[in-house]
Amino acid sequence: MTKKILVTGGTGYIGSHTVVELQQAGYEVIIIDNLSNSNENVIDGIVNITGVRPIFEKIDCIDMPVLKSLFEKYSNIDGIIHFAASKAVGESVQKPLMYYRNNLDSLINLLELMPEYGVKGIVFSSSCTVYGEPDTNPIDENAPIKPATSPYGNTKQINEEIIQDFVHSGAPIKSIILRYFNPVGAHPSAEIGELPLGVPQNLVPFITQTGIGIREQLSVFGDDYDTPDGSCIRDFINVVDLAKAHVIAIERMLENKSDEKVEIFNLGTGTGLSVLELIRVFEKVSDKPLNYKIVGRREGDIEKIWAQPDKANNVLGWRATETIEDTIATAWKWQQRLCEKGVM
Ligand code: WQD
Repeated sequence: MTKKILVTGGTGYIGSHTVVELQQAGYEVIIIDNLSNSNENVIDGIVNITGVRPIFEKIDCIDMPVLKSLFEKYSNIDGIIHFAASKAVGESVQKPLMYYRNNLDSLINLLELMPEYGVKGIVFSSSCTVYGEPDTNPIDENAPIKPATSPYGNTKQINEEIIQDFVHSGAPIKSIILRYFNPVGAHPSAEIGELPLGVPQNLVPFITQTGIGIREQLSVFGDDYDTPDGSCIRDFINVVDLAKAHVIAIERMLENKSDEKVEIFNLGTGTGLSVLELIRVFEKVSDKPLNYKIVGRREGDIEKIWAQPDKANNVLGWRATETIEDTIATAWKWQQRLCEKGVM
């Protein structure tokens, strides 16, 4: 029988790419999203790629009565992939209570409802931000969790602990926690991609918007770090590669392929690339120079972090396959498509 997966935050950036992969793998998808940082039109993009329209309900996961009525309406949901969360580091410093409310209550509500409605597993979107500034790179899943540098990062740490504690209490559920490094790129069809509202906080959308002329100049935050070229180093992972890991994770949980009740995996390429190197990649892909200047460091930035993805490679049988050139090419194609459509 077709398995039914609830995808919270399914109209968002990583969520929408994951819905595509789930549908292509034969799962039935129910998206819930409060559309606070996304748009319902994203669903048309999903339909254009897959030919299947996922169920969509505009629901906020922090609204327990409404969430409960969703589980009543769609009986026998098999698993949940929980993306819905506030995710801007800077904003979380300004509005900590909003971040704790959104990111903690939504997970608690879902966990509370899972046993009641017989939902067996939850895949949780975590982040490499839980590691803080690593002592060594690449970093594996056993590295210590350092004090969070922002309320956003803290919510991810606490969320992981909530899952561990709930499962430890004997709750009849399983969980896979996925720690993403830096997801970038778009679906190769350019039907879906990253759609930041307002001025992008993340590097790649800022680069592509500068490349196309929406932004005048990219500011590179610091060239005096202890790295070969002085700019920060990240592990940029293709969003479709990342999405595919969720399909493997959900199948692993629902088919009880592991005895462990909670598993944690890094999702990265295993290769670090500096901000300046990424700019060079964009210039090559777009075949034009990028207008950028070096400015001071951004508060709270990690100097260098990249993944040791061996556990995901060996245990999940998952591997990032796309090159950074191909990945940035998809981000550029998506940006051009957005301009053609007059979105931005
Ligand atoms: C990458 C690098 C910046 C913008 C955050 C979250 C993480 C994850 C992804 C989220 C840094 C530099 C950026 C710009 C720049 N999860 N930069 N100019 O901070 O690594 O990670 O987003 O949802 O949890 O913490 O990503 O893209 O903001 O920055 O020079 O205009 O690019 O300083 O070195 P980050 P980022």
